Amino acid sequence: MNKENNNTSSKPKGYLTGKEVRAIAKANAKEIKRLEKYKNRNADEAEFLSQLKNEENILEIDNLHTYFFTEQGVVKAVNGVSFDVPKNATVGVVGESGCGKSVTSMSVMRLIQGPQGQIYSGDIRFAALDGNKKKVYDIAKMPIHEIHRIRGKEIAMIFQEPMTSLNPVFTIGQQLDEVSFIHNPEATAESAKAKSMEMLNLVGIAMPERVYNAFPHELSGGMRQRVMIAMALVSNPRLIIADEPTTALDVTIQAQILDLLRDLKTKIDGSILLITHDLGIIAEMADYVVVMYAGRVIEKGTVDEIFHNPMHPYTIGLQKSKPTLDSDSDTLYNIPGNVPNPINMPNHCYFKERCSRCTAKCGGEYPDMIQVSPTHFVACHIYGEEAKNNG
Ligand SMILES: Nc1ncnc2c1ncn2[C@@H]1O[C@H](COP(=O)(O)OP(=O)(O)OP(=O)(O)O)[C@@H](O)[C@H]1O
Ligand code: SF4
Ligand SMILES: [Mg+2]
Repeated sequence: MNKENNNTSSKPKGYLTGKEVRAIAKANAKEIKRLEKYKNRNADEAEFLSQLKNEENILEIDNLHTYFFTEQGVVKAVNGVSFDVPKNATVGVVGESGCGKSVTSMSVMRLIQGPQGQIYSGDIRFAALDGNKKKVYDIAKMPIHEIHRIRGKEIAMIFQEPMTSLNPVFTIGQQLDEVSFIHNPEATAESAKAKSMEMLNLVGIAMPERVYNAFPHELSGGMRQRVMIAMALVSNPRLIIADEPTTALDVTIQAQILDLLRDLKTKIDGSILLITHDLGIIAEMADYVVVMYAGRVIEKGTVDEIFHNPMHPYTIGLQKSKPTLDSDSDTLYNIPGNVPNPINMPNHCYFKERCSRCTAKCGGEYPDMIQVSPTHFVACHIYGEEAKNNG
């Protein structure tokens, strides 16, 4: 008798039989092989050139799916994410831990750790400047060896922990100069140093020569984060992705770094994609806000719309859980329940088990994204009903 089959009915929830594990491994291997082949192919530029939907944008993420093929099953970390980053704007992405913020930004940089992690489908259209010529690349379709055209050059990233991003055995100057040498074939030792010093000045470092000659461990946390920002700026990027850039810093330094980022947007004449779980930072910094939940965008709009007219029950809960000085209560509101298991996502709204406004319709299909103003969108059945009743 087949022992595995015999145990299936009584097995604990989440437990996988040997047969199931083997079936997952087989399916994973097949998909990974196909996606790795696509990633490493040689392709003509025409294959990954694209068109923006709106010329006012610098980045358009369209129905992006990024998966991790694990032994337990497929983790759909980013599961159909779409949003735009307009030129000269700051877009804040917010949502609780594990909702897919970093995986979205790492997908844009093509830094998803393969072979387990893969961009599965979707478009990431970016308006790049090749010399003086504008070219729209679909980053998701670029062979990985072509990514040097934009990564670290047109799009730069600032990470959360500057100590782990800087190399401890090289001076700050050596690491900054390196960026010029990588991206500018005509760079000389003098021109690279001049650029590095200019950027250290730009990020408000008072004694740039001293910092240029220092090793990372000789600097404070705030100083290191300034250096990381200077490093991101050396190649004159047009989009900066900052993933929790101030989480490791104390509040005073945090405020200084945020001021610096705000200033830089004007100085570099570019855009910022700011990822954080801190609504206060979003309110201060962002022009547009994208709210993510369990790998999906559940609401997006201007900062005014999201803060003054939040519509999705999750966004409303997020606002309520923000600490305020004038609150009478001495306890913080928390949204009850947990995010569903990322391997077995339900077919209905992912927020259903935690939602106090859930109706009969919420057990049905996942809600469509509904447009409620030219810039405000929400994925919730309540508004689908309203739109129907009004129209
Ligand atoms: N290498 C990996 N293997 C499997 N799953 C992963 C991997 N990296 C990320 N994930 C999963 O992808 C999902 C999204 O992770 P992500 O790091 O994007 O979250 P986040 O929104 O940035 O959270 P945080 O606020 O904690 O930084 C999580 O469920 C996480 O467990
Ligand atoms: S669709 Fe239903 S369950 Fe989901 S957030 Fe809206 S009201 Fe709540
Ligand atoms: Mg993250």
